[in-house]
Amino acid sequence: MKGVILAGGTGSRLYPLTKVTNKHLLPVYDKPMICYPLEKLIGAGIEEIMIVSGRGHVGHFLELLGSGSELGVSITYEIQEGAGGIAEALGLARKWAGTDSVAVVLGDNIFEDDFREDIESFDRGAKVFLKEVPDPQRFGVAEVNGSRILSIEEKPQAPKSNLAVTGLYLYDARVFEIIRTLKPSGRGELEITDVNNAYVRNGEMQYSVLSGFWSDAGTFDSLMRASVMVQRYRMKQAESAERQ
Ligand code: G1P
Repeated sequence: MKGVILAGGTGSRLYPLTKVTNKHLLPVYDKPMICYPLEKLIGAGIEEIMIVSGRGHVGHFLELLGSGSELGVSITYEIQEGAGGIAEALGLARKWAGTDSVAVVLGDNIFEDDFREDIESFDRGAKVFLKEVPDPQRFGVAEVNGSRILSIEEKPQAPKSNLAVTGLYLYDARVFEIIRTLKPSGRGELEITDVNNAYVRNGEMQYSVLSGFWSDAGTFDSLMRASVMVQRYRMKQAESAERQ
């Protein structure tokens, strides 16, 4: 399986922090934001990773991460020229991914859980990772029944559950055919939720619910929360290391 990190967008909700730099380079506690999703993929055993970002700051990603050799992986860069959404950005990885499955992660998502087993056991179809949240209307929201997802709604005003669809997705290579069939949403973007619903309709969408902390970091409050979560986690780790 290959990994794709989507790090485009204008970061308008974080303006003026994003006036001269990319959202995914802002600090989350003690590291640039993009290091967290990158380390998640590497920790799950993925060795070939593509970063898709906008034209303005791609050089900064390159300076930060280079070829990936220091991290023991190979990093490739792709540029999303327009603002056509998350699914359009993923579509740019089609040739590079070939017939391989992809683990796709949004560059502003910070996860505690480990995904190695999910990634190693992934065969075909798609998988999403849900998290109970107090403010589901900010996210894609899944309606589930037993082990099945019935539907996913993007930022619903009246959410059918409190299960947010987090920004890590596992797809087989058919995802690129699905993206080609998508039409732009009301906000003029190709939506990752429409990709996910195509798998839901085919009965090929699996899910699991995360137990560890999760946050996006695309607004002032969530950026702050993500930093605090990481700081607490590091303190806990340091305390347990001292005890040993
Ligand atoms: C995106 C997705 C949404 C998902 C969220 C997770 O929203 O569209 O379904 O729940 O990421 O962070 P965005 O934050 O780009 O508005």
